[in-house]
Amino acid sequence: MSVTHSLDTSTSRANPLPAPMKRLTVPKLKAMKGGEPIVMLTAYTARMAQLLDPHCDLLLVGDSLGQVIYGLPSTVPVTLEMMCAHGAAVVRGSWHAVVAVDMPFGSYEASPEQAFASAARILKETGAAAVKLEGGEAMAETVAFLSGRGIPVIGHVGLTPQAVNALGGYGARGKSDAEAKKILADARAVAEAGCFLLVLEGVMEEIAAEATAAVDCPTIGIGASSSCDGQVLVTEDMLGLFERAPRFVKRYEDFAGRIEAAVSAYAGEVRSRAFPGEDQIYRRKK
Ligand code: KIV
Repeated sequence: MSVTHSLDTSTSRANPLPAPMKRLTVPKLKAMKGGEPIVMLTAYTARMAQLLDPHCDLLLVGDSLGQVIYGLPSTVPVTLEMMCAHGAAVVRGSWHAVVAVDMPFGSYEASPEQAFASAARILKETGAAAVKLEGGEAMAETVAFLSGRGIPVIGHVGLTPQAVNALGGYGARGKSDAEAKKILADARAVAEAGCFLLVLEGVMEEIAAEATAAVDCPTIGIGASSSCDGQVLVTEDMLGLFERAPRFVKRYEDFAGRIEAAVSAYAGEVRSRAFPGEDQIYRRKK
């Protein structure tokens, strides 16, 4: 579907044409288990949200914005303030998809009460419909606490990037029997605790298939095969904005190459005074 935006100058809001359908809801997403695969991408800005929204069921304001937007070495330094600012921008830029916001490292692990305060702040300040948190059995009590109090939660097990210091890197998980068993136990624990969606990241295909069959909420894979109920990627990875991306990323574009070519053309024209040309300058009407 091709969507254009006209700017309402009184509100500064860009309105999409044609007018979009009603926004999806958390219960509707949950009901997609076993049906048509759920399409999810990350978004951090209003403009990117506008472009992705007509094609996606779910937009995730991922804490991967730490590396993608802020140039941080991992997601560990990402703050609640960053997540709220970008979450609000993505909600403003979307009309159709459910928007979920990652809870950053340190904002939820200490206790269910800490998690509730952080999640409530995210929902109030952004207008998003759900939060995502990382962790399995250790987070089950927190998932039950939040979902029992009206906060829809997305779980995230397998490769959990916020635990990079404990895991020792970003390699795929579940290579040993013990690790595979633990990931399955984690998936079951957060699903039974009430998460409405479960992200499976960087796990062997058999684990993804078994977890998807074992839980009654939809699973969303990232590096977890097509046996999941849906897929997510970091948008900038699939658009080819970085030289390096994980093995599980399929690049649908070469944005880095296209930006390089466009900027090099601009720089050449500025230096040769070919830009600005006749079409880009103001002259008094005669
Ligand atoms: O932070 C993130 O972008 C994620 C993913 C699941 C893509 O958690």
